Amino acid sequence: MELPFSESFKIKMVEPIRKSTRTEREAWIKNAKYNLFNLRSDQVFIDLLTDSGTGAMSDRQWAAMMLGDESYAGASSYYNLKNAIKNILGFDYFLPTHQGRAAENVLFSALVKEGDVVPGNSHFDTTKGHIEFRKASAIDCTIDEAFDTTVDHPFKGNLDLNKLEHVFQSHPKENIPMVIVTVTCNSSGGQPVSMENMRDVYALAKEYGIRVLFDSARFAENAYFIKLREEGYADKSIKEIVKEMYSYADGMTMSSKKDAIVNMGGFIALREEDLYKKASQFNIIYEGFVTYGGMSGRDMNALAQGLDEGTEFDYLETRIKQVAYLGNKLKEFGVPVQEPFGGHAIFVDAKRFLPHIPKEEYIAQTLGIELYKEAGIRGVEIGTLLADRDPATRENRYPDLELLRLAIPRRVYTNNHMDVIAVALKNVYDRRDEIKHGYTILDEAPLMRHFTVELAPAVTESVEK
Ligand code: F0G
Repeated sequence: MELPFSESFKIKMVEPIRKSTRTEREAWIKNAKYNLFNLRSDQVFIDLLTDSGTGAMSDRQWAAMMLGDESYAGASSYYNLKNAIKNILGFDYFLPTHQGRAAENVLFSALVKEGDVVPGNSHFDTTKGHIEFRKASAIDCTIDEAFDTTVDHPFKGNLDLNKLEHVFQSHPKENIPMVIVTVTCNSSGGQPVSMENMRDVYALAKEYGIRVLFDSARFAENAYFIKLREEGYADKSIKEIVKEMYSYADGMTMSSKKDAIVNMGGFIALREEDLYKKASQFNIIYEGFVTYGGMSGRDMNALAQGLDEGTEFDYLETRIKQVAYLGNKLKEFGVPVQEPFGGHAIFVDAKRFLPHIPKEEYIAQTLGIELYKEAGIRGVEIGTLLADRDPATRENRYPDLELLRLAIPRRVYTNNHMDVIAVALKNVYDRRDEIKHGYTILDEAPLMRHFTVELAPAVTESVEK
C-alpha cells in the first residue's frame, strides 16, 4: 500500500486555544460592532483572519535569532539577509522595511506622483491605498476568467496583455512608473501567475520602456503552482523557478510575513542603483538606516533563514496540500468555493452562498459573522467593505466577487482543525435560508475602512427574533 501524505515537520512547541459558547460569541461580536478585526484573539477558536505574520517559525529560525547582530550600521544580520536575497531572488540592491506596506510606502515615494497610472493584476488593498493616497490610480488588468469562481483556469492571477497594452497606449510613458505583478494574486483569490505570463508582461513592458515590479508576498507559493501546473517546470526545483520568475522583474516589494514565514518584516529589492539611492532617502526618513530599516538584527536573521525554508518543495507541498484539504472538504459538502483553490486560503463565494442577501448589506461580511457565531472561526471579508468607496464619487465600489477568505497560517493548525472549519461552514450552509438580512454601516474611516468599520444588523435585532 502506498503511504499516505503527511507533514514535513514535527511539532516542538504548542500554544493552547480556547473554545467558547455561541451565547458568548453573539455578545462578543455585537460588542465588536460586527467587525471581526475588533475581536480579541482569545474570543477566537481558529483564527483564519490572515496568513500574514501568523506562521510558526522553525527551530532553525529561532536559532538564527540568537545570532542576531544588533549593530546600528553594517550588522552581520543585514549581510545574511542581503546574501539570501541575492542568492534566492537575484537582486543586488535591497532595503529592509518593517513590513510590506512600508516597502510600498518607501518605494512609491520615490516613484509615484499625482496623475500617474499603475496597471497590475488586482492590486492588494495597501498597494492600491499607497497609489491612491498619492492621487494616482491603480488600473486592474487581470484576465476576465479570474472573476468567475466556477471557471477552472490554472493561472487566474494572469494579466490580460490587451488590457495592459491599452493602458500603455492611452497614457504617456512618464505617467506609468511601473506595472505591478502580484504573485500570487491575493485579491483575486491567491491565484498564481504563469511563467509565460510573467515573461510576456515583461517583454511588453520593455517594448514601452516601463518598469516591472513584483508584489511578492506569496512568490514561493506561486512558484509551487508553476512547478505543478505549467509545462516544462515539473523537474525544476522551486529555487530554480523562483530565479527565473525574478528574471522578469526589475524590482520587488515584499511582505516577509507570508512566504518568508516571519512574524514581522519586509523589504524592497532592486536592480537599478539610481532608484535604490532615491528610495534609500525615504527609507531613512520612514523606516530606519539602510542596513536595518525597521527590522532588528535578529529578525533579519530569521528572515534570511525563512526565505530559504519557504522556497523548499517539501515545506510548500505540506502547506498547499493543507489548504486544498480544506477546499476539498468544503466542496464535498457543496459549499461554493473558488476554484482552483488558492495557495494561502480558501475563498468562499458568498454571493453563491447567500444569494438572497442584497449587495448593499455586505454579503461576505454577513457570512463571516455567521461563521464566527457558529464555531468561533474568524475569516475575513474580501468584498464591498474592502473595496471601499470610489475616491472621486464616494459611492460604494461593488466588486464582481464577494468572498469570505479563510487564510491558513503556515505550520500552525492541523487537519483536525480543517475538519472543524469545514463542518462549521457546512452547518451555516445548511441553514442559509434562515439568514434573513445583512448589515449596514454605522461608522467608517475615509480610507481602508474595513479595519475599523462599525456595523449593525440591517434590521433591528428584536425584529430578527
Ligand atoms: N501585498 C500583498 C499581496 C499582500 O497580501 C499584503 C498583505 C501586502 C502587500 C502588505 O503587506 O501586511 O506586510 O504590510 N496582506 C495581508 C493579508 C495583510 O492578510 O493578506 P504587509
